Amino acid sequence: MKIVIIGPGALGSLFAAELAARADNDVWLLDHDAERAARINGKLLLTVGEQEFCRLVSFSADATRIGPADLVLLCVKSRDVAAGINGSRALFTPTTILITFQNGISHLDTLAQMKLPVQPAVGVTAMGATLKAPGHVCHGGHGLTRIGFLSPVPREKEKQLDRVEDLFRQAGMPTERVANILDFVWAKLLVNVGINALTVIYDCPNGDLLVNAEAKAKLVAAVLEGHAVARALGIDVPTDPVSQTLTVCEATAANISSMLQDVRRRRPTEIGAINGALLDKARELGIDVPVNSELVSRVRQIEDGYLRTAPRGSCPDRL
Ligand code: PAF
Repeated sequence: MKIVIIGPGALGSLFAAELAARADNDVWLLDHDAERAARINGKLLLTVGEQEFCRLVSFSADATRIGPADLVLLCVKSRDVAAGINGSRALFTPTTILITFQNGISHLDTLAQMKLPVQPAVGVTAMGATLKAPGHVCHGGHGLTRIGFLSPVPREKEKQLDRVEDLFRQAGMPTERVANILDFVWAKLLVNVGINALTVIYDCPNGDLLVNAEAKAKLVAAVLEGHAVARALGIDVPTDPVSQTLTVCEATAANISSMLQDVRRRRPTEIGAINGALLDKARELGIDVPVNSELVSRVRQIEDGYLRTAPRGSCPDRL
């Protein structure tokens, strides 16, 4: 199967490395940075515990050079979804399967507003990945990946997604096809709503939020506000979101959240796609979410501080 992953960040690189373990998969990584793509081309390093593997993955910055694909995994940040799809139209035929993997919910509005080459499936994953350097990814544990369509599709498309589920499983990634993917998108959103912004505000690893009474109270309040918005939208979050967030916080106690990593690297954060997008939905519904509102303003303030002072012409790395 010809598989193209758009975005060589942690998750994109991990998917590429895992899928390339099978010789019958022809795996490509589409990177917007041509110099980096040329440098890494063919040598993707994967670290799993003490072991290191080199995986054969072709890198390119040119979708026309890659040509039509069977499967495209869109693994760019939420704000880059439109650019990612527009820059990769040469990959798509009517039978290509597209699965998008982003944090938050704002990419769903972007996708709904775009003229897409195919009807996309959405993915939610708990796979752990850290990018040590461009072209070198560390596997941080096999969490479950769920995939599904947001709305009904023809039977043939359903079957294609079943084949992707098999493909992921054969590559050693626990994967499940679900009919209610939106519920899982929101379940993950609420975890990120409770953890990410607070780790930025308190400048701490995830686990520290549990031992700081003020932070923990805000975490719980932010998730409860988010759950109220989800319920008003008719979303049936599959597990209790407060206990789920506390469990994830404990399980990832030593982790530096993706948002705090962005702040430390002085890159734009995903606050708009996570708590910010929740705020927008709450406003539309007339629901008060004061804790999330405070989290958004405080993270925006921190972010504005370094983005305004970024050297002229500098461009944040869009992995
Ligand atoms: O965004 C993140 O960092 C992760 O989704 C999570 C679960 C908060 C763990 O760090």
